[in-house]
Amino acid sequence: MSLRHFLTLADLTADELERLLRRAAELRAAHYNGALHEPLRGRVLGMIFEKSSTRTRVSFEAGMAQLGGSAIFLSPADSQLGRGEPIEDTARVLSGMVDAVMIRTFGHENVQRFADVASVPVINGLTDAHHPCQLLADLMTWQSHRREITGRTVAWMGDGNNMCQSWMQAAELMGFDLRIGCPPGYAPDDLDAYPRSRHEPDPDRAAAGADLVVTDVWASMGMEDEQSARRTAFAPYQVTGAIMAAAGPDALFMHCLPAHRGEEVAAEVIDGPQSVVWEEAENRLHAQKALLEWLITESLAPDEPPRG
Ligand code: CP
Ligand code: NVA
Repeated sequence: MSLRHFLTLADLTADELERLLRRAAELRAAHYNGALHEPLRGRVLGMIFEKSSTRTRVSFEAGMAQLGGSAIFLSPADSQLGRGEPIEDTARVLSGMVDAVMIRTFGHENVQRFADVASVPVINGLTDAHHPCQLLADLMTWQSHRREITGRTVAWMGDGNNMCQSWMQAAELMGFDLRIGCPPGYAPDDLDAYPRSRHEPDPDRAAAGADLVVTDVWASMGMEDEQSARRTAFAPYQVTGAIMAAAGPDALFMHCLPAHRGEEVAAEVIDGPQSVVWEEAENRLHAQKALLEWLITESLAPDEPPRG
């Protein structure tokens, strides 16, 4: 396989996504058994964080260590990126030193520009537009509780930004319907390109009969100035016990975390029996180990000779 990046979920075929999720479940089982599996011995992941993180940083760093490799944390404050070194120059330099790079940044075009010149795999650890690593964990969590997601209905309650847009891509790849419960003005712009997703401004109708209800913070990192306006606009979309009741007793609840009890989700929901958020967070580790193993070992493998 030649060099591959993971900038959005749409970088994978449906088949590749299924295989990654299967591998993630295998790696989770091996981890629980205490089995050592170190295919990335001597390999190094560079991690650029221009925004805060708990789960993404720890899961990538622990994941690389468990696979036999290591990770280097870089932030703008202590790298030359913060002093204006161009993204492309950084990409060329890191490509000569590490085996893959994970980036968490603001504009999605930044990861694209990095990947355009990098000669090692680049992984999107969250941009303003997408959070594909989280979707690997979310889909894995769904599968471990309910198996197939094809044909199901997911209710997204909240902002139409990065997490929502990654769910839209997942809906196309996996064949489920996504109802986006959010106020007018906050829905994704390009809904027409995603026939399996639709905006439903009425929160009860968005949740009605859904198999899974998902939410996220109302003011994402970088939107701190909008916090108060968003608190007002999104208030009717809080995932309450009533919203979960509209979905039904078998519906699951997910949240990528960090969560704000009393804002996007009521404590009784996130801490209640339908919530799978702790398993969802842990699955970041297992899913990303599958991703790292695939991207790094396969990118290093020589291409197959041309046939014929
Ligand atoms: N869900 C998620 O990406 O969490 P962090 O911001 O803590 O990495
Ligand atoms: N939408 C949130 C996700 C955090 C993991 C943000 O971008 O801050």
